[in-house]
Amino acid sequence: MKIGCPKEIKPQEFRVGMTPNAAREAIAHGHEVIIETNAGSGSGFDDTAYTDAGAQIIATAAEVFATADMIVKVKEPQAGERKMLREGQLLFTYLHLAPDPDQTHDLLASGCTAIAYETVTDRNGGLPLLAPMSEVAGRLAPQVGAWTLQKANGGRGVLMGGVPGVSPAKVAVIGGGVVGTHAARVAAGMGADVTVLDRSLSRMRYLDDVFGSVFKTSYASAGNTAELVTEADMVIGAVLIPGAAAPKLVTRDQLSTMKPGAAIVDVAIDQGGCFETSHATTHQDPIYDVDGIMHYCVANMPGAVARTSTIALGNATMPFLLALADKGWKKACQDDPHLLAGLNVHAGQLTYEAVGVALGLDTVSAEALVNA
Ligand SMILES: NC(=O)c1ccc[n+]([C@@H]2O[C@H](COP(=O)([O-])OP(=O)(O)OC[C@H]3O[C@@H](n4cnc5c(N)ncnc54)[C@H](O)[C@@H]3O)[C@@H](O)[C@H]2O)c1
Repeated sequence: MKIGCPKEIKPQEFRVGMTPNAAREAIAHGHEVIIETNAGSGSGFDDTAYTDAGAQIIATAAEVFATADMIVKVKEPQAGERKMLREGQLLFTYLHLAPDPDQTHDLLASGCTAIAYETVTDRNGGLPLLAPMSEVAGRLAPQVGAWTLQKANGGRGVLMGGVPGVSPAKVAVIGGGVVGTHAARVAAGMGADVTVLDRSLSRMRYLDDVFGSVFKTSYASAGNTAELVTEADMVIGAVLIPGAAAPKLVTRDQLSTMKPGAAIVDVAIDQGGCFETSHATTHQDPIYDVDGIMHYCVANMPGAVARTSTIALGNATMPFLLALADKGWKKACQDDPHLLAGLNVHAGQLTYEAVGVALGLDTVSAEALVNA
C-alpha cells in the first residue's frame, strides 16, 4: 500500500501523523511511505529522518493526496484537504464528526473510507487512541499549574514541593481517570500534597491499590469538593462524562473561598470545563485571573509538547496502521472489532450511529457493511 502523510495545516498544530519509526515499520512490512516535506519539523523530525527510514519526501500535500492509498494525519482534514480526498481512499486520523456537519458532508461526498482515532476501542472499554493525549495533558497539568503558581504569573508564590521546614503545595485533582491519575502522579512526584476526587468508588479502589500513599483519594461529594478546593493551592479539573458537557463542579462564588493566587488548571475545558469561570485559552495567552484565582484553560494542551505527543500517538496508532496497510481496511476491520469501531464513513455512507444521531443523518451498520 502507498501510505501518505501530509503536513498538518490546522493553526498551531505541530504534531505529525507518522513518525520516522512508523515509516520504517510500514516500509519493513513492504509498503511505500510518502511524506510531505517538513511534515515532521514541528515535532523535531526533519526530512532526513524520514528518508533515512526509507520514506520518500514529496513537495506538496496535493501530490500526497493524489497518489496515496491511505492518508495518515493527526487533526481532522481541513476544507482544502477534504477536496483532495477521493473515492476508495482510506483516511486514518482524528475526525470528531458529531459537532462538525460540514466535514461529515464533505467526507461522505468524497467517497473515501474514514476511520476515526477517537472511536477506536480496546478490550477494556477504553479509547486507546485518545488515551495517549489524556496521558500527556495529565502529566503536563501540574507542570503548567506550577508555573501559574509563580508570583510573576499572578500566582500565590508557592513551590510545589515546599522545602525543608516549609509545607508543600496542596493539590486537588477532580476526576481520577486517565488525565487525573497522570496529573496526580506528577504532582506527587514534584513533592506536592495531592488528593484525587472521583465519584467512582471502583476507580478510587484501583487508585488506592496501585498508588498506595503516593496520593489520597476522596469521594467527590459537593461537600468534600468544596472543602478541598478551599484548602488547595492548585485545583486540576479532569472529569469526563462521556458524550456530555463537563459538569460545573466549582461555582464562581466558591472562588472567594479559595486562597488568593491559587491556580486552576481546567483540563476538561475541551468539554466545556468543570469550573463555572473557565473559558478556553490558547498557548499564546494561556492564563487569566477571575477574582484573584489564576485560571489555565488551554483546550489543546498536548500541542505544547508536540514531539512527545507525536511519538505517544504514533506508538498507539502503529498496530492499527499496520493492520490497515497489510490487510486492507475491510479485512482489518473484519478481524478486529475494536478497529471496526473506528469506522465512521465508507463510500458515501455514515457508519457511526452517534454521529448520525447528533447530525440527524441516516447510518448503516458498520458490521453489516464489512461482513457483506
Ligand atoms: N485540554 C486538553 O488538552 C485535553 C487533553 C486530553 C483530554 N482532555 C479532557 O480531559 C477530560 C478527562 O479525560 P480522561 O481521559 O481523564 O477521562 P476519563 O474518562 O479517563 O476520566 C474521567 C473521570 O472523571 C470521573 N468523574 C465523572 N464525573 C465526575 C464528578 N462529577 N466528580 C468527580 N469525578 C467525576 C469519572 O469517574 C472518571 O474517573 C476530558 O474532558 C478530556 O476530553 C483535555
